[in-house]
Amino acid sequence: MGLRLRLALTILIPLVAILGIFAYIKVDQDRAIRREDFTRHTEITSRAIQLAVEHALRHDSPADVAQLLSRLVVKQAEIVQIRLIDPSLQTSAASDLLPGAAGPTVGRLRLVMDTGQPDAVDWRWRGTRLHTQILPLRPRGESVTGALEITYIAASLDAALLSANYGTALATALLFLVLLVTIGLALQRAVLRPVASLMQGIQRVAEGQLDVPVPVARRDELGRVAEAFNAMAARLLAARQELVAETERSLDLARQLHRTESLATAGKLCSSIAHEIGTPLNVIAGRTELVLQALPDDSPYREDLSIALAQIDHVARIIRAALDPFQPRKADVRPTSLASVLDIVLPLVRHTAKRRRVTLAVSAAPDLRLLVDAGHLQQVLINLLMNALEAVPEGGRVELAARRVTEGDRPVVELSVSDNGPGIPPDVLPRIFEPFYTTKPQGEGTGLGLAVSRDLVTDNDGELRVASPPGAGATFTVVLPEASAAPDTPR
Ligand SMILES: Nc1ncnc2c1ncn2[C@@H]1O[C@H](COP(=O)(O)OP(=O)(O)O)[C@@H](O)[C@H]1O
Ligand SMILES: [Mg+2]
Repeated sequence: MGLRLRLALTILIPLVAILGIFAYIKVDQDRAIRREDFTRHTEITSRAIQLAVEHALRHDSPADVAQLLSRLVVKQAEIVQIRLIDPSLQTSAASDLLPGAAGPTVGRLRLVMDTGQPDAVDWRWRGTRLHTQILPLRPRGESVTGALEITYIAASLDAALLSANYGTALATALLFLVLLVTIGLALQRAVLRPVASLMQGIQRVAEGQLDVPVPVARRDELGRVAEAFNAMAARLLAARQELVAETERSLDLARQLHRTESLATAGKLCSSIAHEIGTPLNVIAGRTELVLQALPDDSPYREDLSIALAQIDHVARIIRAALDPFQPRKADVRPTSLASVLDIVLPLVRHTAKRRRVTLAVSAAPDLRLLVDAGHLQQVLINLLMNALEAVPEGGRVELAARRVTEGDRPVVELSVSDNGPGIPPDVLPRIFEPFYTTKPQGEGTGLGLAVSRDLVTDNDGELRVASPPGAGATFTVVLPEASAAPDTPR
């Protein structure tokens, strides 16, 4: 059963009952009042007739009395019969009699004559309601010498009662209609409409639309329900956002884990590569040294062997520098001068730049100092510079710049490596920091350079950013904390 029907029944049933009782009482009261009116009216009329008859009995002949009775019946439309009763209960005179009407019982006539008190009785004759008044007759003073019986027809009473009933029924029906419409409108405003709007809100929430609150324009219970509902929706929304954030955090964690695992694999790989290459290199260097020592001072091979030794040393240093950072090591952060780092990095990359005929320009204030692990910074710069050197075509240009800036209220050093190569396509850009992601042909790229660099920079409390506007090459920027002007801490 719907709320509308239930409310309607809850209100209508008592309403109908109350109105019914009201109508019943009203009808009952009307009936009593009309009846009393009628009785009083018949009493007064009867009293007048009694006096007239007593007068006639004193002064006129019995025939005149009978004529008087007939005249009275004809004159008074509501009187249907008048009888004079003698002490032996016989009719001594009468108007035209109602055919076959058995009047009031003999017992009542007797009682009236014995007590001298009038009496009245209601009765029916052929479906018509009649009312008979019985009065004692005392034509000559105190003693009762007979009785007068006057019978009235109660038609006027019936008509009055009927119209009173109609009136009551009409008034009750009107009252019912007015109450029905008023209560219906009040219910619609106070309950049904707000409940409908609440339902719409609940529907919206059920469909997942949590951010549209139910309107709260009232201070009653329904208003409080709407408020409580809105609070619940807000909590649901917060919980959902929390869940989304939590999911994102765990996804981040999973990605981080994947990176770490990939880098650990890379670390193992690189350490075995370093070992595999390092061992024969050591052997080559040792043997070359021996040969060099055994050669006479003026031997023409001496210079060639010295160059060979220098190149072996160069290769060994590159391998160490390239592969060492894959061995996980905690950042050993100290004040470090940029110049000391560049002293190691630049000779290593200048060789490649020269071979590829690329201009390598360096612009850095000589006194810049950073709070970093020097080995880590070397590695990062080598990776960035090698990438740039590999990206630009022959005759291209790679620039390394360093400057001191303030980010927020923290002094930092900004190192940027930019090139005028083809830049990084937008579909490649989001992936370049993934371990093992490379666009270079097999055997040329490992896809580890940027992944490792970003980790190293982060470990040193810094940030590695990339920008590659279309047609303007690529710029990688490393931001690292600046060191106050304290001397380098020796390692
Ligand atoms: N300066 C640059 N210009 C254009 N692309 C670059 C540059 N630096 C890096 N990249 C892109 O980022 C990818 C990943 O770089 P990296 O992690 O160093 O791995 P690898 O150099 O072994 O490919 C490269 O394969 C290349 O596509
Ligand atoms: Mg690289």
